[in-house]
Amino acid sequence: MPSFDTHVTVNGVPQPATSGEPLIEVLNRVGLELPQVCYHPQLGPIQTCDTCLVNVNGELVRSCATRVAAGQTVQTETDAARTSRAAAFDKLLGNHLLYCTVCDNNNGNCVMHNTTALLKVEHQVTPYQPKPYPKDETNPFYRYDPDQCILCGRCVEACQNLQVNETLTINWEDPHPRVLWDGGRPINESSCVSCGHCVSVCPCNALMEKSMLGEAGLMTDLPLPVFHAAIDLVKAAEPSTGYGPILQLSETEAAIREESIERTKTVCTYCGVGCSFEVWTKARHILKIEPTHGPANGVSTCIKGKFGWDYVNSEKRLTTPLIRENGAFRPASWDEALGLIARRFREIRAQHGPDALGFIASSKCTNEEAWLMQKLGRAVIGTNNIDNCSRYCQSPATMGLWRTVGYGGDSGSIHDLEQAGLVIGIGTNTAESHPVLATRVKRAHKLRGQRLIVADLREHEMARRADLFIRPNPGTDFVWVTAVAKYILDHGLEDRAFIERWVNGLDEYRASIAPYTLAYAEEVTGINQDTLKQIAHEIVQADGTCIMWAMGVTQQCGGSETSTAISNLLLITGNYMRPGAGAYPLRGHNNVQGASDMGAMPNFVGGYQKIDDSAVREKFAARWGVELPQKAGLDNHEMVDAIYQGTLKAMYLKGEEMGIVDSNANYVDAAFERLEFFVVQDVFFSHTASFADVVLPASPSLEKEGTFTNTERRIQRLYRALEPLGDSKPDWEIIQLVANALGAGWNYTHPSEIMEEIAALVPLYSGVTYERLEGFKSLQWPVLPDGSDTPLLFTEGFPFPDRKARLYPASFIAPQETPDAEYDLHLNNGRMLEHFHEGNMTFKSPGITEKVPGTFVEVSPELARERGLESGRLVRLVSRHGDVRVRVLVTDWVEGKQLYMPMNTPDARQAVNRLTGSHTDLSTHTPAYKDTAVRMEILPEEGENPLPRVNHRYGHPTPQRGVEVERKWRRADYRFPGALEGRVQIARRVAPETSTPTGMGSDD
Ligand code: SF4
Ligand code: SF4
Ligand code: SF4
Ligand code: FES
Repeated sequence: MPSFDTHVTVNGVPQPATSGEPLIEVLNRVGLELPQVCYHPQLGPIQTCDTCLVNVNGELVRSCATRVAAGQTVQTETDAARTSRAAAFDKLLGNHLLYCTVCDNNNGNCVMHNTTALLKVEHQVTPYQPKPYPKDETNPFYRYDPDQCILCGRCVEACQNLQVNETLTINWEDPHPRVLWDGGRPINESSCVSCGHCVSVCPCNALMEKSMLGEAGLMTDLPLPVFHAAIDLVKAAEPSTGYGPILQLSETEAAIREESIERTKTVCTYCGVGCSFEVWTKARHILKIEPTHGPANGVSTCIKGKFGWDYVNSEKRLTTPLIRENGAFRPASWDEALGLIARRFREIRAQHGPDALGFIASSKCTNEEAWLMQKLGRAVIGTNNIDNCSRYCQSPATMGLWRTVGYGGDSGSIHDLEQAGLVIGIGTNTAESHPVLATRVKRAHKLRGQRLIVADLREHEMARRADLFIRPNPGTDFVWVTAVAKYILDHGLEDRAFIERWVNGLDEYRASIAPYTLAYAEEVTGINQDTLKQIAHEIVQADGTCIMWAMGVTQQCGGSETSTAISNLLLITGNYMRPGAGAYPLRGHNNVQGASDMGAMPNFVGGYQKIDDSAVREKFAARWGVELPQKAGLDNHEMVDAIYQGTLKAMYLKGEEMGIVDSNANYVDAAFERLEFFVVQDVFFSHTASFADVVLPASPSLEKEGTFTNTERRIQRLYRALEPLGDSKPDWEIIQLVANALGAGWNYTHPSEIMEEIAALVPLYSGVTYERLEGFKSLQWPVLPDGSDTPLLFTEGFPFPDRKARLYPASFIAPQETPDAEYDLHLNNGRMLEHFHEGNMTFKSPGITEKVPGTFVEVSPELARERGLESGRLVRLVSRHGDVRVRVLVTDWVEGKQLYMPMNTPDARQAVNRLTGSHTDLSTHTPAYKDTAVRMEILPEEGENPLPRVNHRYGHPTPQRGVEVERKWRRADYRFPGALEGRVQIARRVAPETSTPTGMGSDD
């Protein structure tokens, strides 16, 4: 609820309000049915439609753009207001044909339809005028129909100021304005990243998901001539019948649709931002993703969450268990597969002991499924050999935070990143790896003047937007971060009051960082001392600093040390315990936070309770009725080594493409071949599955219930939208079947029962219930038993006995594989916007694959010149660990002798991890993926550029402040509607050349 501090009088009744909020929000709260075609609460006032006019203190104004002030008297039903609103809407109808009955957007939420009904429009005065442009159907996911476009500008506002991709504009000065992509390019040749913001906020059918077209309505798949005839029929009827009966017909049709269209709330299954939305389905057809008010994302999505769902109905889905027989796989029944698993697991445990088995949980699956996987390992088999893929990315960040502040999670919410005075991104390609989270930073930077510093090897989008972009030498972030901290302490710029009250260990820390002078940092990192001083001063001057970091930091030999250094820097500058500040180790997978929270780790049970703590084991034993093994198990890296050592004989892995995403993939693949028994559970027959003895078909997120925990520690529910395909099953059901085949006697009938057990045993989740997470509700851990949660951590101190944080002396661990004479190039790798991780799900989307068909290696223009390379050339990259053949993309995103390969590939032979080694972060065993040296052999074959011209990277954005409605107001044919009615003075309403019209409440 908003906090009210004033009142306005609406139609004679005082109403509570908040100073400065848009007046329209008050009117909506009161429940007045006021038209508001262009207004969208998450976009703010756009002021293009004029349909929200009301009288304020006797003057006709736009209620969306009028800010609440004490003493306002508002009248919504004066003749002037009513007729002006009607006149404004009539103008909009001149741009839009009402063929609702045969329109795929007629689903009860079309703003044009609903406003026609609300205003009881019977006949339109302004004749409909088609625009002299064809539809643009070039984008694989959505199309633009200029003839239906009412020029409200919501899409432009969303693209410019919410997504901040800055692709869309409206050419207001043109005789026939329309929405433009990159100033007039076909959509598919523009900078559009297919995030879908514009489509989601379009109030009508001008922008529509192609998956809706011809699918949503009862009569919307009519052949084109019949479709046009139907429209003509409606137009012919309108003069005699009026719109009333026509709308009635379309509403009846919409009501019938309701019976076949399901709208199910779900949570995105890709990255850790945790966008939530409704998925609309008709039988198994996914009509669209409809984001409205997700707690992490609002209306926002990226290409994957909005359009990347083809994998769910892919023909490549596994639909039955498979058993390897004579070197080939054959379909099997569930009973046979489970019987075989139980027999082999029992045999191996009997012969070699429980620690001969290992379990890999999935950070793509739900919390409840991660919980059951570790319970299976610990309580049924009797081993702590359990891990999840946070080992591949997040563990060092968690380690750094545990050492210093006690909780291994983001300090606050995405909202805090938005509020910060300064955001620093280190080793994070945020706009591609966490796209919706990045939009909030881009928005604050563009509209609010937030400062942005980026440290990375590549000049990606965030680097280009940054106020300061630095390129430290690979693997040296620890040094510059610590040098900045030392400079701050040396010059007395630290937050002394904060440190005295809340931080231990200053003296020891100060002594430990003595070697990290600015001069030393310049020598090691290549960043000059003045720049480092500037960073120090930016931090101490900012009204709150958030540091976000990702795999560029963690996937190094010193990932834990650098993460610790980041947290130390935040501590000495007082950037914890307050909104708009703190540490943001951006979590990669949708549920990588949750998989770790659930104790799918070798040394912790749920909630990071130590397995070697007898009180913890007793608590679990009391609930589970079995003793837990005491000794910490093997992590996934150690499991691979144990296979080679012959001590690990069997593995049960679910939802992880470990054979491609673990480093030194050749070594890992060869390990899998040595396993005596290997069970892989997945949605697809993955590369890893090809090594299995039994493959179990799992169901993806849309086919099950459960919860995910995002990077903000936000726990959210997903609901079943589709039945499991074929004989596939939700992972939690499969794990229970395996456990029961081993004699466990589990009896969970719904994931909520698993969550009840989690809440009872895991203090961080103690107040979590499915009821408290109903619909779009969410909770951010720690959640107390009464259900109160913690959007901002540490507000009352740190989770240590004296409630004080700890400065932790850390030291620089240099990269191991710096280039040398033989391997002369540094190879970096990471995600791409379009694909998620290795791409097993996103390569099932033809649209996404059109944008990025495969992998490649980025080569700098200078290196390309030196070696005589052009985009498309085939090269062989050779490291100490393997080789790949891959095509070159020449780009200035990389510089000098640094290369970059995306980690996604449809061909396991080309996976970047054929090149990476087995060396790891010392504290957590996270592979040092980013620490790889290669040489490049140029092969004779030339070919196509591996990044097609339809990729957004070739586009030319057209940044502007928003929809720029003033340009519309300056058009000769524009009149303020009140002026049209002659009830107000035209002279007072028409926009002068350079300013906003007076009396229109425009204070934006
Ligand atoms: S980037 Fe493309 S899909 Fe996203 S809002 Fe802009 S135009 Fe629309
Ligand atoms: S395409 Fe854009 S300007 Fe046109 S109606 Fe949709 S949101 Fe409004
Ligand atoms: S991939 Fe991430 S940013 Fe994109 S929609 Fe899904 S959760 Fe949101
Ligand atoms: S809602 Fe469009 S001008 Fe206010």
